[in-house]
Amino acid sequence: MLILGIESSCDETAAAVLSGEPQVLSSAVASQIDVHHAFGGVVPELASREHLRNIRPVVQQALREAAVELRDIECVAVTYAPGLIGSLLVGVTYAKALSFALGVPLVAVHHLEGHVFAAELEHGPFPYPALILIVSGGHSSLLFSEEREKYKLVAQTRDDAAGEAYDKVAKLLGLGYPGGPILDRLAAEGNPRAYPLPMARFSDGSLDLSFSGIKTAVVRLVAEQQIPRAAAADAPQPGEILDLAASFQYAVIGTLLDRVKRAAAHLSPRCVVLTGGVACNRGLRAAFREHFEPQGIRVLFPRPAWTTDNAAMIAAAALPKARRGEFADLRTSAYATVPLTRERIPMPNPLKNN
Ligand code: KG4
Ligand code: ZN
Repeated sequence: MLILGIESSCDETAAAVLSGEPQVLSSAVASQIDVHHAFGGVVPELASREHLRNIRPVVQQALREAAVELRDIECVAVTYAPGLIGSLLVGVTYAKALSFALGVPLVAVHHLEGHVFAAELEHGPFPYPALILIVSGGHSSLLFSEEREKYKLVAQTRDDAAGEAYDKVAKLLGLGYPGGPILDRLAAEGNPRAYPLPMARFSDGSLDLSFSGIKTAVVRLVAEQQIPRAAAADAPQPGEILDLAASFQYAVIGTLLDRVKRAAAHLSPRCVVLTGGVACNRGLRAAFREHFEPQGIRVLFPRPAWTTDNAAMIAAAALPKARRGEFADLRTSAYATVPLTRERIPMPNPLKNN
């Protein structure tokens, strides 16, 4: 089966062609980084317009690179939720029109399930049960999965997503957008213990995440210690910026590792999956491997091009649904917020002794 995947939930317009093995025949991504760079974050109105401009050329590029014609496509898969509504609508409308015009079925894919399938695309089916950490610009969720395509929520962020914290801190320091790769690079040169930053835990025993405290602490530090603004992107940065990048990254990774460790102690997974843009982070990957692999728990993550938003992961998530005939119809719409699962695993409260 040849599936054309389409993704437009945030600031990447992406299209990919996947064959049924599954094998990625092409994965084209038009990034909007240049458009949003000056604003230090994604501007929704501009994003929708860019998607409109890019969607047709990106689909053409994916077809060309896969060396297939539109008439060879047997199924169209599209991200329907969650994300920026205007952006999602461009992909959904385009996919519905293609499905109708080609007379082929449509599969609607949840963006977070796409991120899960990016890791499956890389490694093949997971050893279950799996703990899955999805950390991106818009999401921070920890899921438990005992079988393929079935998810229970262990924890999620109560305020900012991990990638959002990276982007906001980079903006504050004048480092540009997206902040994750820039801070990741600078962190390698700084001292992670230079500035102690808070790693929030909730007193009710919940493993939920919170990153707004770290961000606020950085704002306060910059003001109190008169930390200089960053130098131009390609110039050497002052030592304080390097140390702050390293300390921030240390706090974010420490928080994520703490939650996944505590969940693993309770749920005994056979693997830990890291996915979503922040899972590109070298420090994060290394810290998780170092902790879990000696215990025989595999740490799986996709290659960087499949870790950030792409359409190969959307087509991959659609494949089992297409095989079962779970198709969407032309009434399908886009939704800004839809949870991947409504089932939540209660965690024991370590503060209670019964
Ligand atoms: O998955 P993604 O492309 O889009 C969303 O679904 O949000 O993730 C983008 C996010 C951005 O916040 C970006 O700063 C972050 O992933 N990111 C990173 C790294 N590379 C990208 N964060 C930390 N370290 C990185 N190396
Ligand atoms: Zn994403």
